[in-house]
Amino acid sequence: MYLQYVMVMGSGGRVSAQVLQKMAIPFQDLHQTATPISPFSVALPHATVRHNIPMSAEPAMPITTCIFDAYGTLFDVAAAARSAASEPDFSAIKDDWPQLAEHWRLKQLQYSWLRAITGAHCDFWQVTQEGLDWALEKTGHQTDSALRERLLQLYWELGAYPEVPAMLHALKAAGLNTAILSNGSPAMLRGAVDSADIAGVLDALLSVESVGIFKPDARIYDLVGAEFGCAKDEVLFVSSNGWDAAAATGYGFTTAWVNRAGDPVDRLPWTPAHTLHNLTGIPELAGI
Ligand code: LAC
Repeated sequence: MYLQYVMVMGSGGRVSAQVLQKMAIPFQDLHQTATPISPFSVALPHATVRHNIPMSAEPAMPITTCIFDAYGTLFDVAAAARSAASEPDFSAIKDDWPQLAEHWRLKQLQYSWLRAITGAHCDFWQVTQEGLDWALEKTGHQTDSALRERLLQLYWELGAYPEVPAMLHALKAAGLNTAILSNGSPAMLRGAVDSADIAGVLDALLSVESVGIFKPDARIYDLVGAEFGCAKDEVLFVSSNGWDAAAATGYGFTTAWVNRAGDPVDRLPWTPAHTLHNLTGIPELAGI
């Protein structure tokens, strides 16, 4: 049985501990009952955190290690198409860049899952290019090779979301381990953290390339314990990808789903422990 709480963050990031909902529901029903029991489950107000707290759990282990997905979580994957669209040379996408960005991201992820299922691994840079080629054709821009080149170049310098540096600095100041765990190749991750200037507040960049399969294969989540020697319940795993946060929950991490878009919860066998609107509430979830 689980209790579901809804807490509202006050100014300065403090949780005001307003318990708006408190209902016991079976674990397997969580994803089905999320909408009826909480009016905030789809459109979360700013900085609202939803907690699904196991009633029968032992006192929670302190979080020692905060692990972040990269693309979409720390780095804004729509930024490449948005930036190109604002450049005079690429005004061809000024109207449809959001569709292009969405198709690109979705195909990139679909190809990663399909390659994992079929054992046809390649690195994330390849599925990023192949997803872009599909998206360019879908939106009628497949002959624009300069646009393709510019979008791929911009993918190496995606900006971090504005709250990322302060959030990571807070975790490091409190002595927690911090790392990225991503499908991205080591070179892509290095490019992204350098361009966002956050390398100094990350202890490790863990890439699926050391295993040779994409998320959400459990061997990828194993990389965290191997790197930090920590137990699963000491880990707060943070992802904006609902499927990634869900799978990491099934693996045994405490999880936070960063639902910036107000998306519906994924219908999967596991439900993330916490749902946030952005990353500002992470230090608080980590016990700081
Ligand atoms: C990553 C993708 C899934 O960074 O966003 O692993």
